[in-house]
Amino acid sequence: MATQRGGFSTRIGFILAAAGSAVGLGNIWKFPFEVGEGGGAAFVVMYLAFCFILCFPVMVAEISIGRKTQRNPVGAFKSLGFKRWSVIGYLGLASGVLILSFYNVVAAWAFGYFIDILSGTFSIGGEAFGQFTADWIKVGGYGLIFMVGTAFVVSRGIAGGIERAAKILMPTLFIMIIGLIIYAVTLPNAMEGLKFYLVPEFDEITGSVVYSALGQAFFSLSLGMGALITYGSYVAKTDNIVSSAASITLVDVGVAVLAGFMIFPFVFSQGIEPNGGPGLIFATLPGVFQSLGGILGVIIGAFFFLLLSFAAFTSTISLLEVPTAYMVDEHNIDRRIAAWLIALLIFLIGIPSMLSYGAVEALGNFVTMPGSDTPMPFLDFVGVIANDTFLPLGGFMIAVFTAYVWRTENFNLEIAEGDESIKGSWLQMYVDFALKYVCPVLLGAIFLVTVADKFF
Ligand code: PHE
Repeated sequence: MATQRGGFSTRIGFILAAAGSAVGLGNIWKFPFEVGEGGGAAFVVMYLAFCFILCFPVMVAEISIGRKTQRNPVGAFKSLGFKRWSVIGYLGLASGVLILSFYNVVAAWAFGYFIDILSGTFSIGGEAFGQFTADWIKVGGYGLIFMVGTAFVVSRGIAGGIERAAKILMPTLFIMIIGLIIYAVTLPNAMEGLKFYLVPEFDEITGSVVYSALGQAFFSLSLGMGALITYGSYVAKTDNIVSSAASITLVDVGVAVLAGFMIFPFVFSQGIEPNGGPGLIFATLPGVFQSLGGILGVIIGAFFFLLLSFAAFTSTISLLEVPTAYMVDEHNIDRRIAAWLIALLIFLIGIPSMLSYGAVEALGNFVTMPGSDTPMPFLDFVGVIANDTFLPLGGFMIAVFTAYVWRTENFNLEIAEGDESIKGSWLQMYVDFALKYVCPVLLGAIFLVTVADKFF
């Protein structure tokens, strides 16, 4: 069966694909503006704690469930014999569809910046981002291209070009960010930016900061919706799941932290407010590239947004893979038909998000969340629902399921398949302990407090 479904050819292939899923707009676009809105370093501290303490164990659980069952997130729970728990899978499908619907729009911005900077049509200045996103015909066109590319790769199955592309592109992005950090810290006011990023002021921590740091941790690691159940289902039995999960977490967190080192010196050196929301990198970086001067600025700027588009691309692929694998496994639909139809549907669902940044006023001021005084655009609203609410909820249920329903013994057997030596190691013991106690209690508590705080 495994061969029919296809699979990753090598362990490094899986790690790269999963890291490719994790590393994306979440690290380079979302993380900096969330830090900016969350008051800086205090947010970073919480995000890091959540990634390692809560998310890492959930990641091991997801990959194990996937590998054990060789199924999509809905089928996985059924195949373990717990049909009712496939509600986690359905919630995951909903999260995936919603996330991809707005993610593709932001990917279209990144891709559009690449094209516009390269072709010299990009105008830099305070209004440039707003003008760009308001041009819905253009953004729609780029979005369509992006979604078609995603559907194309997913329709061809798992092992194909992704592994190879990720091997070259991820390191390049990494090197480029390092280069930009070196440039960033030489700029005037860079230290102010680093201070904002690194010196926590714990009185900045409010309920909503905790909530968004948690959502960010899940989103950035592609957790809580079964993306890693799905990828795990293509993993060889000989792979060591715990160490693979550790590598994926470290790479993902590493890229996010580096992105912060790059962006905050830039933001402060240009005198931009760090709490500007989703436009942060799009408003800041073009000015930086321009300051590099002439053709050099154009080349570096265009190349940066090209790589950002690639990072987004390996994530959109994993997002589309989840509902596609579901249709293929559970409804016997041809992979190509499933991938193209779902992509089209998600593109359509994404239209209101696309229009919510300048094209349609009412979508731009869509809702005012309780406890806030400014209305948020539709795109951000979908994010609050899917990333910040559904993903941690999914993670909570996955932890409870693994520890108490599937049971730790069985989970440990699956983990030990790849590497007996993991048995009794402290990492394994921590994962078991966390899934039993830490994740259910903390995730449950944060969830209840947030609900109480937001709605009562
Ligand atoms: N982790 C991806 C990013 O940071 C987004 C993503 C979320 C991908 C959930 C798959 C599943 O860009």
